[in-house]
Amino acid sequence: MKRLIPTLKADGVSIEFIMLIRTILAASKEIAFRVSQGELSGILGSTLDENIQGETQKKLDVLSNQLIKDILLGDDQVRAIASEEEDDVVAGTPGAPYIVAFDPLDGSSNIDINGQIGTIFTILPARDDVADDSPLQFQQPGKNQVCAGYVLYGPATMLVLTTGGPTRCYTLDLTHGGYLLTQPEMNVPQDTQEFAINMANSRFWFDETTRYVNDLILGEEGPLGKRYNMRWNAAMVGDIHRVLTRGGIFMYPGDSRDPKKPAKLRLLYEANPMAMLLENAGAKAYAGKQRILDIQPDDLHQRVPVLMGSANEVDVCLSYYSE
Ligand code: AHG
Ligand code: MN
Ligand code: MN
Repeated sequence: MKRLIPTLKADGVSIEFIMLIRTILAASKEIAFRVSQGELSGILGSTLDENIQGETQKKLDVLSNQLIKDILLGDDQVRAIASEEEDDVVAGTPGAPYIVAFDPLDGSSNIDINGQIGTIFTILPARDDVADDSPLQFQQPGKNQVCAGYVLYGPATMLVLTTGGPTRCYTLDLTHGGYLLTQPEMNVPQDTQEFAINMANSRFWFDETTRYVNDLILGEEGPLGKRYNMRWNAAMVGDIHRVLTRGGIFMYPGDSRDPKKPAKLRLLYEANPMAMLLENAGAKAYAGKQRILDIQPDDLHQRVPVLMGSANEVDVCLSYYSE
C-alpha cells in the first residue's frame, strides 16, 4: 500500500508543503494515541474554562489545541494560525507562505462516551497586504484553500485529505506509525437515501427545512418517492466521513433557537475544509442557497448554515429553498 509522502509527491506537491502537512499529522498521531488510551491518559472530562464561543472546553479540546498550536508555531512554513479554541489569530513565522486554521477536536460531546471525534484543518496562502496576526489573514473565501483535511479518531484512525486534486483516504498503520493510502479517490454517490440532521432542533427550523425533512420522512409515500434512513453522529467528522464513504446528505441548518447564534457550525475551520473535501469527491456544499466555498468571511469564528453531500440530493433540498 502506498504511503502518504510518495502519494503527495506523485501529486506534484512541493517538499516544503509536504513537510507542513507532516507537521500537522505529527500532532494528530499524538492525539490519536491519547484518545486510544481513553481514561488511562487522563484526557476525559471538562476544564473549568469556556472558549470564545461560550462553550465549556473539554480537557481534550485544550490538549489537542496546544499540541497542534505548538507544533505549527515551530514550523517555518506557517505565518499565522486560527483555531476554534483561540480567541484571536496567533502569529507564527514572519514572511512564511501559509496560514492554517483548525478545529483541534471536533465532536467534543463524544469524547467521554468513546465515540467518533476528529481534527479538521485547512491551509491557505498567507496575505502580504495585512499584518501577520490580523484576522484579515483568514478572511479569504474557501475557494482559496490549498489543502483541506480531517483526521477521524474512530475504531481506526483515518486521514482524509485533498491538496486540490482528488480527495484521498489514508489509514494510520499502528504497526509502523505512518498513514497508508487505503482509498485513492473518494467518490460520493450522486443519489442517496440517508440524511443527517439533529431532529431535536425541528421546532426552531425555518419553513423550508421543515418542509424538506417532512418529505424525507414521508418516504415512498411522499413526493420524493423513496424511503430514507437517518443517522446523526454529533461529530461533523463522523457524519461527513460517512457521506464521503457511501453518500448521504448532512445538514445543520440555520434556526431560531438562539438569536445570537443563527447557525452552529463555523465557516473557517469546519464548513470550508469539509466543502473542499466533498466537492473534490463530486459532492456539493451549500450555506442556504450560496456555495460555501464562495462565501467571503467577515469574522474568524463566523457560523454558517450547512447543507452538504450527494449532489442530486443537495439539489432536491435547494429546490425547497427557492420555492
Ligand atoms: P465541536 O465539538 O468542535 O464544537 O463541534 C461540534 C459540532 C459538530 O461536530 C457536530 O456536527 C455538531 O456540533 C453537533 O451538534 P449538536 O450537539 O447540536 O447535535
Ligand atoms: Mn467542530
Ligand atoms: Mn472543536
